[in-house]
Amino acid sequence: MYFEQFYLGCLAHASYMLASEGEAVVVDPQRDVELYLKAAADHGVVIRHIFESHLHADFVSGHRELAARTGATIYMGAQAGATFPHVPVQDGFQLKFGKASIRVLETPGHTPESICMVITDEEKSSAPWAVLTGDTLFIGDVGRPDLSPWHTPAQLAGLLYDSLHGKLLTLADNVLVYPAHGAGSLCGKNMRAERSSTIGTERLTNYALQIKSREEFVRQLTSNLPARPEYFLKDAEINRTGAAALSDLPALRAIEPAELKTMLSAGEIALDVRSNEEFAAGHVPGSVNIALGGQFASWAGTVLGLSAHPVLIAESGEQLEEARLRLTRVGIEVLDGYLHGGLAAWKQAGFPIATIAQITASELEARIHSKNNPVQVLDVRREPEWDAAHIESANWWPLDNFRVSPPELDHDAPIAVHCKGGYRSMIASSLLQRAGFKHVMNMTGGFDAWQQAKLPTVTGKPVGV
Ligand SMILES: [Fe+2]
Repeated sequence: MYFEQFYLGCLAHASYMLASEGEAVVVDPQRDVELYLKAAADHGVVIRHIFESHLHADFVSGHRELAARTGATIYMGAQAGATFPHVPVQDGFQLKFGKASIRVLETPGHTPESICMVITDEEKSSAPWAVLTGDTLFIGDVGRPDLSPWHTPAQLAGLLYDSLHGKLLTLADNVLVYPAHGAGSLCGKNMRAERSSTIGTERLTNYALQIKSREEFVRQLTSNLPARPEYFLKDAEINRTGAAALSDLPALRAIEPAELKTMLSAGEIALDVRSNEEFAAGHVPGSVNIALGGQFASWAGTVLGLSAHPVLIAESGEQLEEARLRLTRVGIEVLDGYLHGGLAAWKQAGFPIATIAQITASELEARIHSKNNPVQVLDVRREPEWDAAHIESANWWPLDNFRVSPPELDHDAPIAVHCKGGYRSMIASSLLQRAGFKHVMNMTGGFDAWQQAKLPTVTGKPVGV
């Protein structure tokens, strides 16, 4: 059997392709489906089946486009209520392809319609070889239970406990585990960095599987939930009906600097996708920086929302294309256009350039203790990161909260922003500047640099600002 995992770092998303005797199955395809068509051609197989483990909330899936381009059948959990042609599957549903098979386990919990797919490769053994766990079981974690508008988190957490103990954990310890997400995904709290595991390893090491009572499991799974971006419910709905094919997107409009200036004055958003360093050194005032280098699409969906229709600022045509594709993967499809000629054209037109000062960890430490030159420190990491260790005088306002509002801090006093490594803090710095903070600094290297310099930290629960 051919088996391949396709890992998309931008969304911490894993999709899969399996094939036997020329017949292929794709599981949880990403929005742009070219890579599966290419893999199928490379391996001389035909994609006949597409499984969705659930209605993904954090990205737009390519299941409909892939089905349209291959003639493949889509299979989804019967509870999904999908409105496009598909086969609704329930416990015990079995699909044979060549000498391999997929057996469906209905595993409600992360969402009501979640399914897991048990893979058997008859060429190896008649016993199950692997299980594709979707967002039910991750490496070191389980799916969050608070993404359904029709169920309470406690109801879903209870169902998740039953699915894990009554179904997944009945598989043998040597069965491989392949989830739909890895570290950094908001579909869980605290995933490990590995891309696969085994039932045995998870049984022994996954914190959620160590909790023996259903009540305690529900209590732990429903407390300290990570932020739920507003776009999650919208993406799940897009996936229920099936997204349009990417080839239907119109060409991007070139926008001249003078027009962008007028648009920005009217409150439109410019999204600068260049690196953090390039943005800090010079950018269009009021533009938001989400660099292509990190989890670009998740953060764009989280801080801008799906109704945003930004003007892109990039340094090359390839960067523009890359940014656009990644935005469509979360459902941001309608863009106003792009700044023609990039920042160079803006400068040439004689318009002002803004910068963001960079400050090192030791410089910040010195300023925190200086009486003449005080500074506000803002930590934009997530709660577990803050709880583990933070700078004593820091204020806490995670980047996820910026969609609602910037922190209530002094706009006129200097503010130094940090995250873990510098990616999120530059997004936050740009949003603070846009919100009118006058002296924004970014701590280079983030909290990692602070700790490497052995500067003092404290632990404990956050006091939001
Ligand atoms: Fe999910």
